[in-house]
Amino acid sequence: MKVAVLGAAGGIGQALSLLLKTQLPAGSELALYDVAPVVPGVAVDLSHIPTAVKVTGHGKDDLAEALTGCDVVLIPAGVPRKPGMDRSDLFNINAGIVKALVEGIADNCPTACTCIITNPVNTTVAIAAETLKAKGVYDKNKLFGVTTLDVIRAETFVAELKGQDPANIHVPVIGGHSGTTILPLLSQVEGVDFSDDEVASLTTRIQNAGTEVVEAKAGGGSATLSMGQAAARFCLSLVAAMQGNNVVEYTYVQTDDSDDAAFFSHPVRLGANGVEEILSYGELSAFEQKAKEDMLEGLRGDIKLGVDFVNG
Ligand SMILES: NC(=O)c1ccc[n+]([C@@H]2O[C@H](COP(=O)([O-])OP(=O)(O)OC[C@H]3O[C@@H](n4cnc5c(N)ncnc54)[C@H](O)[C@@H]3O)[C@@H](O)[C@H]2O)c1
Repeated sequence: MKVAVLGAAGGIGQALSLLLKTQLPAGSELALYDVAPVVPGVAVDLSHIPTAVKVTGHGKDDLAEALTGCDVVLIPAGVPRKPGMDRSDLFNINAGIVKALVEGIADNCPTACTCIITNPVNTTVAIAAETLKAKGVYDKNKLFGVTTLDVIRAETFVAELKGQDPANIHVPVIGGHSGTTILPLLSQVEGVDFSDDEVASLTTRIQNAGTEVVEAKAGGGSATLSMGQAAARFCLSLVAAMQGNNVVEYTYVQTDDSDDAAFFSHPVRLGANGVEEILSYGELSAFEQKAKEDMLEGLRGDIKLGVDFVNG
């Protein structure tokens, strides 16, 4: 397996790369790409960890070499919001970065599975899809928005509230990856009952968990370590599935379900070629059904923004 991390010198990129260096199957190759000049140093640093995973570092003019032969590409490249920038400034920069990197994927490893971490994921995944379509290499089974952070946060918060071991708690999270588009299905958590108040407050906490980190870091950035863990979990599941194991993860994929949105997080059975089967998310409670109906228009708008960004 060859895995590339694009944006590998950043907060998420470094945490993710460390976890992959220590957990990818023996014999894998890990290619680190970033425009920041420190990236070869990050690769040398990781290469001193004694695992059978070969790490290479690639600077800004070396994208093709990083991507050639890749099976999986993870994209956490982007800029965090800076003082004086509004959301649309951030969107335009990150959208352009994702588009350029996905063009590189189309040119150098068009059959790789592409996993988008760069926010706003609701929109950047649509940008990636349109970019791959324009290059004639789009395979909807090989494009993923990484929403695993919502799942691991939900599992942590439920376990905390109910005094359980988080390893035994599984929380489905469907929809998109910002604010109210994040929809945890607490009615489906096995072995735990919630009051209506608990459902309302937990749902809000899961939807706003990113802000907890941003506020606690007091201007120093957003989630990087938990996001690194979440992306590593998703990547390792995908690699295991590509090697023949049966794995299901929640992820934001093209669904072609006109009742929801063109892209929507579902439980997905992963396999040798990416998405093997998009599974049903099952029955929703009345609270969840209303929350889904209320957020769909916003999610569809986020997706349209991405389509329009590429197609004018
Ligand atoms: N999906 C999620 O759940 C989730 C969670 C947290 C953050 N994020 C997003 O992830 C992104 C990265 O966050 P971070 O905290 O690691 O930021 P960061 O600033 O620490 O790192 C970003 C890295 O991307 C690199 N970069 C910028 N332009 C690039 C390009 N064209 N090619 C390659 N690399 C490039 C930068 O040099 C930097 O090293 C942000 O967009 C953030 O909003 C997503």
